[in-house]
Amino acid sequence: MRKNKNNYAVWSSRIKKQTSNNFKKIGSSINIDKRLYKEDIQGSIAHTEMLYKQKIISLKVKAKILWGLNRIKNEMEKKKFKFDISKEDIHMNIESRLFELIGDDAGFLHTARSRNDQVLTDLKIWMKNSVNEIDKLLIKIIKSLTHNAEKNIKTVLPGFTHLKNAQPISLAHYFMSCVEMFIRDRKRFKNSLENLNENPLGVCAISGTSFNIDRWYTTKKLKFKKPTNNSVDTVSDRDFVLDFLYNVSLCSMHISRISEELIIWNSDQFNFIKLKDNLVTGSSIMPQKKNPDTLEYLRGKTGMSYGSLLSMLTILKGLPLSYFKDLQDDKELVFNSFDILKNSLLIFDEVLKGLIINKSEMLSAANVGYTTATDLADNIVKNLNITFREAYKITSKIVNFAERTNLSFEELNLEQIKNIDKRLNKEILELAKLHNSVNSKKSYGGTSFENVKKMINKLKKEI
Ligand code: ARG
Repeated sequence: MRKNKNNYAVWSSRIKKQTSNNFKKIGSSINIDKRLYKEDIQGSIAHTEMLYKQKIISLKVKAKILWGLNRIKNEMEKKKFKFDISKEDIHMNIESRLFELIGDDAGFLHTARSRNDQVLTDLKIWMKNSVNEIDKLLIKIIKSLTHNAEKNIKTVLPGFTHLKNAQPISLAHYFMSCVEMFIRDRKRFKNSLENLNENPLGVCAISGTSFNIDRWYTTKKLKFKKPTNNSVDTVSDRDFVLDFLYNVSLCSMHISRISEELIIWNSDQFNFIKLKDNLVTGSSIMPQKKNPDTLEYLRGKTGMSYGSLLSMLTILKGLPLSYFKDLQDDKELVFNSFDILKNSLLIFDEVLKGLIINKSEMLSAANVGYTTATDLADNIVKNLNITFREAYKITSKIVNFAERTNLSFEELNLEQIKNIDKRLNKEILELAKLHNSVNSKKSYGGTSFENVKKMINKLKKEI
């Protein structure tokens, strides 16, 4: 601990006893919020320049404070700064060091400012940058998925409902369905910028200030779009934190669903895909094993993101306005969620690049379970000019017969189908072949090979 007068808390003139040592330890957030040092100094610089412009501080004081802040930043970047948990948080650590460096003039810095607006300013700046970082990673994921799609336009697999074979689809169509999820995630994160772009600095503790400050000036300096409207709401509001945690949770959920699907596909029962060796781990006892740990990591981590979201919702529930110490934990939740998502996106991209597709296994699986029965019914409607419900009944009879005799649609002969309904002909069965089925789904958004190709090209132009 530094031995000088700055060793006392700023409130020691009012509060006569030192804070309980236990509480100092657990109530201090410095180990978490030191991650905001750059943003805190950036905010303090903008605030200082505003105070000078508004003639609230002199040129000399401004110069001293800016010099001190830059010096502190330097110390932090060079990892020479001694963080002190008795100084509670990043704001007090920096202020106290400023006193050591420039003396009592440091006391001007906190004019017309409170830690309540300061911490929000720091956090919003940090989150804006993080949202951009996530966006870049999402673009990478979208590109990898599209690349996989391009290589698998004609790869046919069963599409599932209820994990039962439903209808054949192109694997490219599946990959492009994942792309849609991440496009929505990008939009959601982008939308969150609107609230993040409102500048909290200058609302002070709760009611604003009597100093003639210029909040539009700091707004511009710190690259926000506008100052927040209401000082009470500003220090109370953590909606933007919830938006972020929700967006992270949703994106994690997308990664988790796809991971679970890939885990199923990777099982020995399915055998649709394999992962390259750098993405699996072995067993300590079973020499033959190649386990998809990377996918399980991705699925598992989603639980932690949900946990953060639920924690923040719970912290806010029943919290009156405005600032309470309860809110201090918002940063830990945001940082954890961000770290988890960032790591997940990095690993997920490697997984997408390391997929080995077993095309023949997918194709033979698509042939199991009469997956073209709907096509058959559709063809009967078109050929016999009857209602879909009637055709559905006829097709059910065909499926029942084929299943009983252990034949595929193609293996049925004319006599057998005429027995079911004398209006039927072999041509109807022809159209129910796997590739014909996939390629016939030309409706907008359907799985036909042409459609999928068009969608891939459209996306490549957009991104
Ligand atoms: N470390 C505090 C936090 O993150 C800063 C705000 C402190 N304000 C207060 N009134 N105690 O929430």
